[in-house]
Amino acid sequence: MDPTQIVTSDVKLAPDVKLYGFVNLYGCSIGEGTRIGAFVEVQKNAVVGRNCKIQSHTFICEGVTIEDEVMIGHGVMFINDRYPRAANPDGSLKTAEDWGCIPTVVRRGASIGSNATILCGIEIGAGALVGAGAVVTKNVPANAVVAGNPARLIHSGNGLLKTSTVRADCF
Ligand SMILES: CC(C)(COP(=O)(O)OP(=O)(O)OC[C@H]1O[C@@H](n2cnc3c(N)ncnc32)[C@H](O)[C@@H]1OP(=O)(O)O)[C@@H](O)C(=O)NCCC(=O)NCCS
Repeated sequence: MDPTQIVTSDVKLAPDVKLYGFVNLYGCSIGEGTRIGAFVEVQKNAVVGRNCKIQSHTFICEGVTIEDEVMIGHGVMFINDRYPRAANPDGSLKTAEDWGCIPTVVRRGASIGSNATILCGIEIGAGALVGAGAVVTKNVPANAVVAGNPARLIHSGNGLLKTSTVRADCF
């Protein structure tokens, strides 16, 4: 294994997973055929499905479930704590016991554009498309296209499934 890759022994890696340099994976599960780009971190109890593409510099935190065939662009940030605090009111450092993880799910075939931030407790519907730089604060319906901060609907569902016609040669 590439010495720049940190993959702890509790990570479940399915066959044909491709990892690039400087990844940091611990306690997570990665499905068959998935590609994970450089400088990606996937935390414990996060799940990534089959045939996904996770591009470089993305952060997938605990509580995130990514279903099969999902595309995550570069530098996408997930969140699992709506009101983060370092310390308790008495000044003591917060620990895992002082914290509750709020889950998020990205349904099958969805795509998330680069530099998007996904707030916690969100469901991104199957086949949905999140624009680059979006801040997603609410659920995204299946096959919808959303963009902006806060993310708003650009196109509603109705089976709209845009795809690139040029060859995507990343990964
Ligand atoms: C969101 C997206 C899918 C929209 O594409 P589209 O359906 O072709 O939309 P259009 O380009 O026709 O734009 C429609 C409107 O949305 C706006 N818009 C498009 N993308 C936007 C974005 N990311 N953020 C904010 N507004 C956006 C446009 O300015 C336009 O506004 P207007 O009607 O006021 O002129 C696309 O712009 C996008 O961000 N794709 C993600 C690309 C990416 O990150 N790839 C990852 C790895 S390379």
